[in-house]
Order: sequence, then structure tokens, then C-alpha cells
Amino acid sequence: MSRGVVVVTGGAGDGIGQGVSRAVAEAGWTALIGDLDVAAAQRVSADLRAEGLDAVGAPLDVADERSVDELFGRKVPSLGGPLRGLVNNAGVGLVKPLGDVSATEWDELHGIDLRGAFLCARAAIPLLASAGGGSIVNIGSVQALGPHVGYSSYAAAKGGLVGLTRGIAADYGWEHIRCSIIPPGLVDSPQNREIFASWGDADQFIKDYVGTRQMIPRLITPEEIGDLAAFLLSDASRSITAAEITIDAGSSRMAFDNREGRS
Ligand SMILES: NC(=O)c1ccc[n+]([C@@H]2O[C@H](COP(=O)([O-])OP(=O)(O)OC[C@H]3O[C@@H](n4cnc5c(N)ncnc54)[C@H](O)[C@@H]3O)[C@@H](O)[C@H]2O)c1
Repeated sequence: MSRGVVVVTGGAGDGIGQGVSRAVAEAGWTALIGDLDVAAAQRVSADLRAEGLDAVGAPLDVADERSVDELFGRKVPSLGGPLRGLVNNAGVGLVKPLGDVSATEWDELHGIDLRGAFLCARAAIPLLASAGGGSIVNIGSVQALGPHVGYSSYAAAKGGLVGLTRGIAADYGWEHIRCSIIPPGLVDSPQNREIFASWGDADQFIKDYVGTRQMIPRLITPEEIGDLAAFLLSDASRSITAAEITIDAGSSRMAFDNREGRS
């Protein structure tokens, strides 16, 4: 029997989204996979169900207030189980120096990465409260901790998400609603591979990055982010809130090229 419903926004994406959706379903919750790409959401949920796991796909545009309210106001109650958690994963990137970013590009990015998380959290909170509490996990980015060149607008959105995380934790802790943020480093995802391919040899870029910019020379997988999200959703983390747990193989703490001084 399902432990209740956990909404994963952008949960059909074949990077972190699917890693989180799978971990949520494997932990025994019904993974409600809300995604702009509804065909992918249906496909991913059907694949999980074929493995005996509990998952449902649904259309969701986190930038659209009506779409968010439809998911939380109609779809979640139609599944019967209580809402136990939300993972704000849906996000887009933008790599451009700030001077080249149009106001429209800024608004679109923030409309998904920051405002979208606000809309989903706002819709989830009353349902979590009426279930006696729950957990909201936001997917941030190490770009908010130490941005690479060209990431200023993305860093601003993910930095805003850090503040939103702490604010939700403060506002609703007394109702046993927890909220924490996972800022991942470089994670193996098709979105990333596309960006690196546009710069040249994607495989070589990744090899150089993990070898010189991380303390641990391994490529982080979406499943690892899923495992951490599942922990933060579970009762095992019942006293953890307002936390920022980076999962970046040490990259955000490295000031120097890791080859220096290595034997
Ligand atoms: N991949 C990384 O290296 C990395 C690193 C740090 C942070 N992140 C963050 O992790 C999250 C997932 O990134 P990913 O690259 O793994 O992508 P992903 O594979 O999880 O795919 C993202 C999904 O979001 C969906 N989506 C986009 N806009 C949407 C909207 N308006 N409403 C609903 N769904 C929408 C897409 O259809 C896609 O399925 C993002 O928030 C991203 O900023 C990723």
C-alpha cells in the first residue's frame, strides 16, 4: 500500500527528474510525476508501474498558476492518498553573461526555477498541513554558491530558492512541514550533455571537469540525487529542515585545480 503521494515536478526528465521519481516510487510513495512533457510523464510512470511501483503521470507547467492549482487541487485528491511531499525539480538553465540577458529571458527563467517552486509549495502546504505534516525538497544548484562565468541569472534564481527554502521552513515548521534544498554539482543528464556538445567534445569536457574540478573524480548520477531527496522526504530526516545539502563531489569547495600537488 502506498505511503501517500509525493509530487515530483519535472519528474519525467531523463536527468535528475527521473532519478527522483524512481527513488520516490521505490521508497513506497505514489510518485505523481508532473511535467510539461506530458507524454514523457505518462511513459516514465508507466515504466515504473510495469516494475510494480506506484507512479502516475500528469500535465504540469510550474510557470502557470492554473496548471499548478489543477495538479494540487484536483489530481492529488483524486489519488486518494494524503500528500506527503513535494520535490521542486523542474528547472531550466541559461548560460549568458548578464549584459546579454533580455528581461524576457530573465522572467522566463525565474518564472520556472523560482516562481514555479513558490507556486507549487504554496499549493502543497495546505495539503501537507492537513495530512499532519510533510517535506518539501527544492533542487538548487552549486551555481548559487560559486557561479561559473555566464550563470548569473541562473545563480540568482537558485539563490532565491535558498531563501525560499529557509522561509518555508520557518513559516511552517510548527505544522511539521519541513523544507530543505539540495544543490547538485555537475550531474550526468542529457540537458548537460547537449550544452557541453555545443562547446565541443562533451565526453572530454566531463572527463576534464570531474578530474580537475571535483575532489572525488566521479560523475554524479541522477539516482544519487534521488536517494538524497528520498531521505529528506522520509521520517529518517524528521528533525532536518532549512538544510542545504550539496551533492557535488566537493566541487563547490575547491578553489584550485585538483591536479596541483597530486602525486
Ligand atoms: N543536471 C545537472 O547537472 C544539474 C545541476 C544542478 C542543478 N540542476 C537542477 O536540477 C533540476 C533538474 O535538472 P536536469 O538537468 O537533471 O533536468 P531533468 O532531466 O530533471 O529535466 C527537467 C524536466 O523539467 C521539465 N520542465 C521544464 N520546464 C517545466 C515547467 N515549466 N513545468 C514543468 N516541468 C518543466 C522538463 O520537461 C524536463 O522533463 C533543475 O532544477 C536544474 O536546475 C541540475
